[in-house]
Amino acid sequence: MKIVQISDVHFTRVDFNPLRLCLKRLAGTLNWLLFRKAECDHEPLSRLPELFQSLGIDLVLVGGDLTSTSLRSEFATARRYFNAISQPKIFIPGNHDQYTAGAYRQKRFYASFGNSRPGIEHRAEFFTLKEHGVEAHKIAPGWWCVALDNAPSTKISSSNGIFSETVERNLKEVLSLLPPNDSILLLNHFPFFQNSEPKHRLIHGERLRALVERTPRIRFYLHGHTHRHTIADLRPSGLPIILDSGCPIQTNHATWNLIDLQDSAAHVHAYHWDGADWKPFETHTFTLST
Ligand SMILES: [Fe+2]
Ligand SMILES: [Fe+2]
Repeated sequence: MKIVQISDVHFTRVDFNPLRLCLKRLAGTLNWLLFRKAECDHEPLSRLPELFQSLGIDLVLVGGDLTSTSLRSEFATARRYFNAISQPKIFIPGNHDQYTAGAYRQKRFYASFGNSRPGIEHRAEFFTLKEHGVEAHKIAPGWWCVALDNAPSTKISSSNGIFSETVERNLKEVLSLLPPNDSILLLNHFPFFQNSEPKHRLIHGERLRALVERTPRIRFYLHGHTHRHTIADLRPSGLPIILDSGCPIQTNHATWNLIDLQDSAAHVHAYHWDGADWKPFETHTFTLST
């Protein structure tokens, strides 16, 4: 099974309409215009629908930050873009998709990106991202994607996520409901490791890390948010294989991952934009013991 992991596409509209311009959105818009815009290029994204087709991709996991300031127009652009990708997709929100208190309260992300469900075939599939902050999708025989929403609306200068007690409780319950011998890809916008930037981290990330550590069935932890591509096999430390897909619109290093999941191994091909085309720049093979 071939799975794409992509995150942080950040479709952005500059909108100074005072009806939509709260303080946080103004700060985010100025940050985009003054700093981020020069480092970003959305054009390479237009090649991906065709490339995914030619690569025989089965599933696309979209790890949040589809927008910059949660404007309806940004969600509409993102929706049009992902509609052009014909494969099944699973979406989670990032902090930029619940950017303002209004967007968070209205659950605006979910109006455009609620995941379609095959129907409640398993008790774990009762849980939804929108209502419970956790969702389980059976993606292949013996494999589940468990998706998390850890993106709250935050104060003006914060890009934090929160692993809340409620989501922690729900995640534990979902994990307890899944077949005990099945394997899990855990999809979150935020890394669980704490970084040195106090306003850019997952609050209570240490609790998520402890839960992941106690759950060896979680074979992969997939995240974005950092805009820095990373692949790290932390199994010797009792943790899963960590895949940070980076940011596919960054002009200096646009990236995403292709995870080729096979019976006893997974090959992860990291793709980057070389200025003219998307090319694999490194491949990692992970053996998967049963
Ligand atoms: Fe981002
Ligand atoms: Fe983010």
